[in-house]
Amino acid sequence: MADRVHRAVIIGNSDGIGLAFTRRLLADGWRVAGLSRRDNGINVPTYAHHTIDVTAADYPDVLDKAIDELGGADLCVYAAGIGEPVDLADLDAQTRTLEVNLLGAARTVATVVPRMMAAGDGHFIGLSSLADRMVSGDAPAYAGSKAGLSAYLMGLSAALRGKGVSVTTVRFGFVDTKMAKGTVRPLMIPVDRAVEILARCVRTRPVLVSRPRRMALLTSALAPLTRPR
Ligand SMILES: NC(=O)c1ccc[n+]([C@@H]2O[C@H](COP(=O)([O-])OP(=O)(O)OC[C@H]3O[C@@H](n4cnc5c(N)ncnc54)[C@H](OP(=O)(O)O)[C@@H]3O)[C@@H](O)[C@H]2O)c1
Repeated sequence: MADRVHRAVIIGNSDGIGLAFTRRLLADGWRVAGLSRRDNGINVPTYAHHTIDVTAADYPDVLDKAIDELGGADLCVYAAGIGEPVDLADLDAQTRTLEVNLLGAARTVATVVPRMMAAGDGHFIGLSSLADRMVSGDAPAYAGSKAGLSAYLMGLSAALRGKGVSVTTVRFGFVDTKMAKGTVRPLMIPVDRAVEILARCVRTRPVLVSRPRRMALLTSALAPLTRPR
């Protein structure tokens, strides 16, 4: 993937897609900084981990420092995310989902993108979801956070045109991680496949990627039916 040493910062990489993609970048010769609440056990000289919650007040400072130590960031992947079924007795948990999935991404953008603009180059990838067009009574904040994230990142991509900075919104269906824990997971893809899709995004910098394609078609058809009439 890399013909010189590239530097990436991955947010949310103690598990799942973020962890697998971190391993892929390191194998491809990248230098990587990772941030999540837990460590991920990767112990190689080209990797540094920073334990931090994206909702913490000092998260932007920790992120800034991590990028300084890395010597800059050519690529930032926001892979942090949570998604719990709604509990009407605990709507704070829904608020937290919005804080992690949407506001955490926005705070990351606000830290990383100005640095990329100053460098005249950079690529931000945000992991959204095919749930972004759904109205969900099961996980309203998850669907809402992804709707907001997709709309924000696609708008940002347009705003950054001509500035050398690319923004990619990746809309996955089900990916085989601990997050996809429901019993019905149609057309679920393995984590390795998700990693291949992200690696291709790094090479081609598309604005929007929705995978798997058949699931994207299915959710497009179903989304209008989820809206209250
Ligand atoms: N799996 C799917 O089916 C699927 C489908 C569509 C989209 N996505 C999206 O893809 C992204 C990655 O999902 P995944 O399946 O890889 O999930 P995962 O295996 O549960 O991993 C989530 C990662 O986010 C980190 N994270 C969660 N809350 C955090 C916080 N407050 N601060 C910092 N890091 C935090 C976790 O690390 P710590 O717990 O250590 O903090 C973990 O490394 C998410 O945005 C998800 O919505 C997943």
